Amino acid sequence: MMRLRKLRCLLPATAVICLTLLRADRAGGAAGYVSAPAQTREALIRYGLELVRHTNTLIGPQAGSQSMRYGGNGLDCASCHRAAGTLPGGLPLTDAVVHYPVYRARSGLVVTLADRIEECMTRSMNGRMLPPDSQEMAGFLAYISSLGASPPRPAPAEKLPELNRAADPGHGKEVFSRVCAACHGADGAGRTVSRPGALTMTLAPPLWGAQSFNDGAGLNRLIAAARFIHANMPPGARPDRPVLNVDESWDVAGYVLSQPRPHKAGLDADFPKRLEKPADVAYGPYIDGFSPAQHRFGPFAPIRARLRQLQQQAASR
Ligand code: HEC
Ligand code: HEC
Repeated sequence: MMRLRKLRCLLPATAVICLTLLRADRAGGAAGYVSAPAQTREALIRYGLELVRHTNTLIGPQAGSQSMRYGGNGLDCASCHRAAGTLPGGLPLTDAVVHYPVYRARSGLVVTLADRIEECMTRSMNGRMLPPDSQEMAGFLAYISSLGASPPRPAPAEKLPELNRAADPGHGKEVFSRVCAACHGADGAGRTVSRPGALTMTLAPPLWGAQSFNDGAGLNRLIAAARFIHANMPPGARPDRPVLNVDESWDVAGYVLSQPRPHKAGLDADFPKRLEKPADVAYGPYIDGFSPAQHRFGPFAPIRARLRQLQQQAASR
């Protein structure tokens, strides 16, 4: 038997959207929220913000009802899109809305903002697609669109310079033990706190293993991971005031990405135009002749040079 307990309303008395906490009676049972349809734009924006912050508990493995479990891991959108997508350098979503529709090499198609959200659902969240007409997709779209109305993000951070050697996971492991393991755990599984009767809170999200992003996620590419870590980790680091140096950032990213994580089926269909496949995509097939290890750990400049050559040949044919 499930007991319903009112957690909170997002709007005052006249609220059209109330989140209620569904709590299983047995100790340690599944817990989560359910929502009533939001009828105003403000309510929808606030629901979207809640979803970005609490993806795991609202529509992930901790959701009360099985049918609401769209996300498949222990992450929230805000685990990567820091401060709910408002932090410069922390994968901001502040101008996402103006980027779409856009051609994406990964799918070889022109995609909408909703399509792009589904990509994060099925890859970063290792989950399944939201129904296009769902309250949840409407909430994400409303929230992200509302950010687009805010001032443009400050000048992008300086790009992390690339190494002319492969990233060294051995050195990365040392950095990890010293700087990261206290929060993310030596096993990379992250840290949570749970109190009886309350939802499990994430202190630090999982970096690898069953509860992390899958191998088709953007962060499974070394350049994205190294940049994110350099600009954001450990918390307190900023793009203009990083804590790790350049070598440490690449090497610790190499260590994190050399660990096991969920596999997404059908990745060989990604980047259908093989000439558009970026150098740091860590799964084949490849047409450039470089090894899977070099695509995983770099150096990437030689791969890019070869791809440019192949592109020129294709163009002159
Ligand atoms: C494991 C990290 C991770 C998680 C979790 C994650 N994302 Fe992303 N997301 C990324 C990365 C990396 C990109 C690519 C950023 C870039 O291209 O600059 C991205 C891109 C996006 C974009 C496109 C941004 C733009 O400006 O074009 C949207 C929208 C987005 N994510 C929404 C979401 C939503 C909604 C969730 C939760 C359901 C989510 N993401 C969860 C890593 C993540
Ligand atoms: C003080 C605790 C702490 C330390 C130390 C720390 N992190 Fe994090 N990390 C977090 C939190 C919390 C988040 C979620 C983002 C947020 O809340 O802003 C996060 C998010 C991440 C993410 C994106 C989400 C995911 O699960 O994949 C990566 C990657 C990451 N950290 C890597 C590292 C690495 C590598 C180090 C060491 C250089 C490190 N972190 C050090 C707390 C920490």
